Amino acid sequence: MFFFRALFFLVALAGLGRACAEGSGGDAPLSSLCTEKSGGVSYSNHFELPLEKYVGAVESVADLDVIRSGGFKILRIPVAWGEHLGGSPDYRIDPTFLRDVDKFVDQALARDFKVVLDLHRFDISKYSDREGEDRFSSIWKQLSSHYRTYGRGLVFELYNEPSQQISNDRLSYLYSKIVPVVRSNSPAREIVVSANRWSKVEGLKGFISPQVADVYLTVHYYAPAKFTHQGASWIAGASAWVGTKWEGSPADQKAVAQDLDLVDEWRRSNRVSGVFLGEFGVLKGADRLSRLNWIKTVRTESVSRGWCWAYWDFKAGFGAYDSSQNKWDAGVLGVLFGK
Ligand code: BGC
Repeated sequence: MFFFRALFFLVALAGLGRACAEGSGGDAPLSSLCTEKSGGVSYSNHFELPLEKYVGAVESVADLDVIRSGGFKILRIPVAWGEHLGGSPDYRIDPTFLRDVDKFVDQALARDFKVVLDLHRFDISKYSDREGEDRFSSIWKQLSSHYRTYGRGLVFELYNEPSQQISNDRLSYLYSKIVPVVRSNSPAREIVVSANRWSKVEGLKGFISPQVADVYLTVHYYAPAKFTHQGASWIAGASAWVGTKWEGSPADQKAVAQDLDLVDEWRRSNRVSGVFLGEFGVLKGADRLSRLNWIKTVRTESVSRGWCWAYWDFKAGFGAYDSSQNKWDAGVLGVLFGK
């Protein structure tokens, strides 16, 4: 009898530990964080790296305190789940990798971040229709079951930057199959969806989001790419863009506003709980004044539309944080928070 009581006590204690790790501040709906002072940032260059570059669990979570001290309330964690799967038919997520992510997610929730966990670096068009769908649904079935006891601090972003190879009809179909599964595990889980064409505004044409509560649309904004991605190693020809400036003239600003108007237009005929500008940013090598002007313009436009936002990224190529000096880039932080 004593053994069973002790066992029950230990199990209860473990549950309490997890509940505490989840924190509570992040439990407010994502829509309540769509304000000037509640921005977010993507924790890039870690869990979303290709398998051969993945170095293991985040050894120190000091970054989380730094990000909190910067004023961010949303932490987007890009994760390349698809790189860490076993074979068919289960496509089991590598338990060690899942534990690595758990540790980080728990620590982020304990700091009251709203955590947006995405499926990054996943290209469904690499597989046959059947296999692609199996992999996609297996990932979200496992994750929604694994995180079923987690509160609303944890948000699922179903598919980062679907390419133009996948039609919006197919995306809508995939979402319509998986959203009920996620909700059967956690009825209150907020969900973020994206259209094709790498979540760019152009992808919204013909995209129909799941028509259920607590679904957000995400868009990524990097226009003009010639400016934001100048010198990007992963884009052919981008070295020729180096030196491109963004003056922030009335015409430049109008171009941004017109692009973003298309999102609001899409929204009028689709039922979503909000818009999450889940990525926007400029590579660090760009002309500084242009970079600050562009970030300020996009952030201001986003906030004035009542959207939530997350800057790409924390301390990698687009970094708001200067890891060489271990401090925030005061200029970037300033324009992100409207100073
Ligand atoms: C990609 C990054 C890239 C960024 C900006 C992200 O979604 O994963 O590799 O740097 O977009 O292009």
